[in-house]
Amino acid sequence: MSNPLLKVDHVGIQFGGLKAVQKFNMELFEGELVGLIGPNGAGKTTSFNMLTGVYKPTEGTITFDGKVTNKLSPHQVTKNGVSRTFQNIRLFKELTVLDNVKVANHSLAHHSMLSSIFRLPTHFKGEAKMEEASLAFLEIFGLDVYKDELAKNLPYGMQRRLEIARALAAGPKLLLLDEPAAGMNPQETKALMDLIALIRKKFDLTILLIEHDMGLVMGICERIYVLDHGELIASGTPEEIRHNKKVIEAYLGEEVPL
Ligand SMILES: Nc1ncnc2c1ncn2[C@@H]1O[C@H](COP(=O)(O)OP(=O)(O)OP(=O)(O)O)[C@@H](O)[C@H]1O
Ligand SMILES: [Mg+2]
Repeated sequence: MSNPLLKVDHVGIQFGGLKAVQKFNMELFEGELVGLIGPNGAGKTTSFNMLTGVYKPTEGTITFDGKVTNKLSPHQVTKNGVSRTFQNIRLFKELTVLDNVKVANHSLAHHSMLSSIFRLPTHFKGEAKMEEASLAFLEIFGLDVYKDELAKNLPYGMQRRLEIARALAAGPKLLLLDEPAAGMNPQETKALMDLIALIRKKFDLTILLIEHDMGLVMGICERIYVLDHGELIASGTPEEIRHNKKVIEAYLGEEVPL
């Protein structure tokens, strides 16, 4: 088997006396769409924060694309090819929809990914090209009609989409989505999942998805990792996870989503 794009090796973090995550192992291979699930407080978002340089792990090693990334800043991690969305939407609320994407896309001015996607000359010069590329991202997400609206005025579901468009505009190899469908209705959720499947193919992405809706995770992910109280309790195919005793127990006392 080829080397994993992302390798998480015995990674953990402690806040004061609390071990929020410990001995976390995970491997993602290029092109995979993988789920990360677990009850509230299991350590899912904390794991994303470690993967993106927001928190520095107090144990273990994170290797992305052959490079140890534990100590990189969030900005360096993004430059290195990892983008994310947040559980609580973080947009530039007072900027337009288009500008939200342009800001992210700025670091990409000479990125080869853009020219390959849009079949444009390798070198982007000036505002016009940047705008063209950003608009193309908006179009994929059905956001082009809102391009001049302030982000804060978008309907909620569209704000969630804009977050993904923006993450994508930074040109990642690995996209981390933290509950992208939270607060959406079933139709919006279904449309979003179709879109996630589409962008994975279109942009050759590897995706790690945190999601509470099990139907959804089971439906689109090839493999699933399960955290509980900061520890990995299971990993496997949706079918394996569905029947895993530890997973079923972990969800007892909560609404059992399996
Ligand atoms: N900066 C921090 N300082 C102290 N404790 C923290 C910090 N960040 C996270 N934690 C704790 O780490 C644990 C895991 O939290 P985390 O947000 O990762 O859970 P989660 O799996 O994303 O849950 P949810 O499904 O509710 O989003 C919780 O006990 C949380 O309070
Ligand atoms: Mg969370």
